[in-house]
Amino acid sequence: MTELLAKLNPEQRAAVLHTEGPLLVLAGAGSGKTRVITVRIAHLVAQGVAPERILAVTFTNKAAREMRARLAALIGKERAKLPFVGTFHSFCAEILREHGALVGLSRSFVISDGADQLALLRGVLRTLQVEGVTMQAGDLQARISLLKNRLIGAEAFLAKAADEQDELVGRAFTRYEEELARARSVDFDDLLLRTVQLLKRKDGPLAILRERFRYVLVDEYQDTNAPQYEIVRAVAGGHRNLCVVGDDDQSIYGWRGADVTRILHFERDFPGAKVVRLETNYRSTEPILRAANRVIAHNTERHPKELRAALGPGEPLQLVLAENDSEEADHVARDILALVGRRAARFGDCAVLFRTGPQARVFEEQFRARAIPYVLVGGRSFFDRKEVRDVIAYLKLLVQPDDELAFARAIGAPPRGIGAKSLERVLAHTATKRISLGQAFEEADTIEGVGAAAAGAGRD
Ligand SMILES: Nc1ncnc2c1ncn2[C@@H]1O[C@H](COP(=O)(O)OP(=O)(O)O)[C@@H](O)[C@H]1O
Ligand SMILES: [Mg+2]
Repeated sequence: MTELLAKLNPEQRAAVLHTEGPLLVLAGAGSGKTRVITVRIAHLVAQGVAPERILAVTFTNKAAREMRARLAALIGKERAKLPFVGTFHSFCAEILREHGALVGLSRSFVISDGADQLALLRGVLRTLQVEGVTMQAGDLQARISLLKNRLIGAEAFLAKAADEQDELVGRAFTRYEEELARARSVDFDDLLLRTVQLLKRKDGPLAILRERFRYVLVDEYQDTNAPQYEIVRAVAGGHRNLCVVGDDDQSIYGWRGADVTRILHFERDFPGAKVVRLETNYRSTEPILRAANRVIAHNTERHPKELRAALGPGEPLQLVLAENDSEEADHVARDILALVGRRAARFGDCAVLFRTGPQARVFEEQFRARAIPYVLVGGRSFFDRKEVRDVIAYLKLLVQPDDELAFARAIGAPPRGIGAKSLERVLAHTATKRISLGQAFEEADTIEGVGAAAAGAGRD
């Protein structure tokens, strides 16, 4: 442990050693925030805190996996003895599996992801009409998610609808919630909201969770939204052993209901909080940081801070103005070839960042033309590929035969001769008669407009 502590700078060490009471670690990118969280957990365990009493929340599954791997190396490999390290969503899913019955969730609830939501919303939009308003399912999804994250329900929103579009959103929101409930399904936002509900109940598991998780740590705190914030406050509220790390200059989730003022108000929410600033950057050279500092200085709401480069001076930045996107890509490709040609870098040392997915195409074209090997990161996620989604739909049906979204997907892969119309009619039948999908297909021959072949295929 002394060895680990020796690898920290004095501010980082202060953050690790302040184990009791609220702590805000405020720092820029690449200043070792995540390292502080990881070492802090190892330190707590070394001090005799049982690992299972520690809760660490990260923002992505990938970050959680990396942290678990590092912790396993630091504090021993026995899985049962590792702290809970996961995203807010995985933490909530676990609580809800155990205690969700209190808020009306069945133990085998299914989690609908973004693509499931879109499919459902497209269906809802087809059945709803409001004079003179059209709306894309994607926009509707974003509106609903934002409302949910601001803790505004469908009814409350409808009651205050200002125009026709609001009315459509409100009505679609209501229907969407009904459909999810019928499929015993929750979306990502619900995972958070149901947990908030659960934690507010007198007969809920809050006391158990507070007792169980004596130390709470949150990475990327600047990106927490309202329900996540409530969950943190609830669980850490008793003992106040809460450590959050974040960067008020780095919040990327404003559109999701994240609110930088939350990090700015930490000291007000948790009076007596210790604040540690990390101002040494270990990732970039001076010229890069100087440029970044200058851009960031334009942010209006922020804690003042300046990053210093541990790496010292480096090559100046280059600003290249290109005529168009293919010239830009051409320039980048030639630069990379030149670097690799004079052995200043390997292909794997170079990265190309761009703002939106479609911009990848021109770069890919240039790289292919010049035989530059590359890996496209992000892009279409593995789990959004058709064949993967198909298999997942079948697996979901095994767990939850009434999952209509999964059913709709599975029935078309491979094609079984059931059209969208027939499926819609059968689904309508389940709704009016309040029966399960399986039952509906048993009597599908009797549903008007559903052919015998389709009925047979569905039973199949
Ligand atoms: N005290 C330190 N000395 C040397 N390298 C460090 C130190 N703290 C962090 N680093 C390195 O800096 C990089 C960024 O650390 P990380 O914890 O990911 O930062 P952040 O979460 O703030 O972006 C990592 O490669 C990490 O190993
Ligand atoms: Mg980090």
